[in-house]
Amino acid sequence: MSSSYMHGHHASVLRSHSWRTVENSCPHLLPYLNKSDLRILDVGCGPGTITADLAARVPDGSVLGIDPSIEVIEKARKYAEDQGVKNVRFELGDIFNWKQVTGIEKESFDVVHAHQVLQHLEDPLKAMGKFKELVKVGGVVAVRDVDYSAMNHYPDHPGLHKWKKTYIEVAQGLGFDPNIGKRLHAVAMEAGFPRSDIDATVGNWVFSTPDEREFWCGLWAERTLKSEFRDKVIKGNHGTQADLEELSQAWKEMEKKDDGWFLVIHGEVICHRRA
Ligand SMILES: C[S@@+](CC[C@H](N)C(=O)[O-])C[C@H]1O[C@@H](n2cnc3c(N)ncnc32)[C@H](O)[C@@H]1O
Repeated sequence: MSSSYMHGHHASVLRSHSWRTVENSCPHLLPYLNKSDLRILDVGCGPGTITADLAARVPDGSVLGIDPSIEVIEKARKYAEDQGVKNVRFELGDIFNWKQVTGIEKESFDVVHAHQVLQHLEDPLKAMGKFKELVKVGGVVAVRDVDYSAMNHYPDHPGLHKWKKTYIEVAQGLGFDPNIGKRLHAVAMEAGFPRSDIDATVGNWVFSTPDEREFWCGLWAERTLKSEFRDKVIKGNHGTQADLEELSQAWKEMEKKDDGWFLVIHGEVICHRRA
């Protein structure tokens, strides 16, 4: 694997990934899922809930999910089996070494999709170049990623500003861009897509109802103390155990606020491969 995934795959991390569907995580792609026999590649598929949902929407087509973590690939296979989705396959794979994955050839996919993957790569431009290589002429590359710097919340809480600052420092310290959502179009242009062939939009997640706050704030309260993020904070000298406990407490307080509101902003691009 070319870049280690900074959160690891602790249960609190996977809980956040396993809630994801096409509707809540790739609405920008929906208009392009307009034929039942599409061939789709989902890069960095994680536990595969988006991937399986994509497959269910192209019943005569096929979807391949790749991820360098065997732990999530096994979870994804089990998830698809439990859902009875047959036209999906999950393989261990790194986008930078796609030639090692059976069933991937150049210009062979109608859709190459990546959700919240580029923010975890040291070389997102190279990855975008690979996506472009793999999509057919006439197909689309669909990418969505976060801009941590643009996340927001209400009521104001200093602990959540500190969490955001710490998160951005940790990710940047590892050589990643946690704010890449705002420049996906620029990365696509640098990878060779003309600006006129790129649709750039924004998609949000808002966590505000008691259930939504319990889900999002609750999982971050846990992730802050238990996932690999914790180790990266300590080892990278971005904070102490006491700082982490303060961040976790901030999330717990936001969860309990009746008028609490947390916004996650994503940049989205659809890149049309015309030639
Ligand atoms: C934030 S998770 C997103 C998972 C999934 N796309 C989703 O939104 O639920 C990022 C995933 O990218 C994977 N990843 C990291 N480096 C990768 C690489 N070089 N090639 C493919 N996937 C990679 C990680 O293992 C991790 O599962």
